[in-house]
Amino acid sequence: MRPVSELLESRALTGTPREHDLASYPASAADTPPTRKRVLVLAYSQSGQLTAITESLIAPLRADARIEVHVETLKPQRAFPFPWSLWRFLDAFPESAHLVPAAIDTPRLAPDDAFDLVILPWQVWFLAPSQPVTAFLKHPLARQVLAGKPVVSVIACRNMWMMAFEKMKGLLTDSGARLIDNVVLTDRAPTLATLISTPMWMLTGRRDAVPGLPPAGVSADDIRRCSRFGRALRDALLDGRETGNAPLLSGLRAVEADPKLLASERAGTRSFLVWGHLLRAAGLPGCRRRIPLLILYLLFLILMILTVVPTSLTVQALLRRRMASRLAGHKAYFEQPSGSGSERLAQYD
Ligand SMILES: Cc1cc2nc3c(=O)[nH]c(=O)nc-3n(C[C@H](O)[C@H](O)[C@H](O)COP(=O)(O)O)c2cc1C
Repeated sequence: MRPVSELLESRALTGTPREHDLASYPASAADTPPTRKRVLVLAYSQSGQLTAITESLIAPLRADARIEVHVETLKPQRAFPFPWSLWRFLDAFPESAHLVPAAIDTPRLAPDDAFDLVILPWQVWFLAPSQPVTAFLKHPLARQVLAGKPVVSVIACRNMWMMAFEKMKGLLTDSGARLIDNVVLTDRAPTLATLISTPMWMLTGRRDAVPGLPPAGVSADDIRRCSRFGRALRDALLDGRETGNAPLLSGLRAVEADPKLLASERAGTRSFLVWGHLLRAAGLPGCRRRIPLLILYLLFLILMILTVVPTSLTVQALLRRRMASRLAGHKAYFEQPSGSGSERLAQYD
């Protein structure tokens, strides 16, 4: 296996355009004990960011001969481009927001494949789980494999993931899976900066496409430190704790929700649903009849980003005291199940 540092260098930090495969192979075959824990890892990444995060997280599992790691790479039947053209990027929003994803190849999993734990890394597209991951969760075979299984969700995105997480919870419930943990990694730059730097990264393939703004994406340090989750999962698997309902990643600062972004996320979700209906009525993805509506939508989106996000952040700053208890409630809700506590960091970081 290539070391994480090399992956970070060659994939995430350069932002070289490619879709990524994580090699699927078990840990060392020597001294294999008879009852190895089996872990299924889903993989899809355009820039390589989510690949690097996943590699860092699962490295401790792969290094342990008592654990077998199977990586299933999701392959859309028609690849999404990276970098995106502006037209393809906008055209992806109606189906992303409405959870009507483009099809993926049938996963190479047998219906009776039995896993002890499932690790589900996913990215947010238009305030919803990305299309390839949604397509996987809606695939009948995936549903058979996931039913009753404990799932660790790992989100990597710009910084708006809360409404997408609500949708993800619904998809996992539909699959009969048990969500036991959620890890969230975001771009730590100020929201208004990331609203420019992230789309520019998607459209150019370069994290540093906008001079004067911090490079887009999750930091190399945050990615490297994901190995703490792998170490905690390894110990939990070896203790058999994945069969219970308690989170395995509590006390590791797995997620820090920013409830101030919720108002913008809600407004965005509502507008994506309304515009998504209009666009889907105009035709299928790629259809020329969508173009005029998409141009209108782009103008609307820019207006919204320039007005709704700063207005809602300013109003909340002004009403900070009055809104404190409501925001604290939202924060606690969205940080479930793993939480933002740090009491086990010294043991695993
Ligand atoms: C079409 C599209 C829509 C996106 N929408 C969001 C979003 O709503 N919220 C967010 O925080 N990040 C959003 N992102 C950023 C992604 O969640 C993710 O961080 C980025 O695409 C890198 O993932 P990768 O590993 O697949 O390259 C979007 C990216 C794309 C390509």
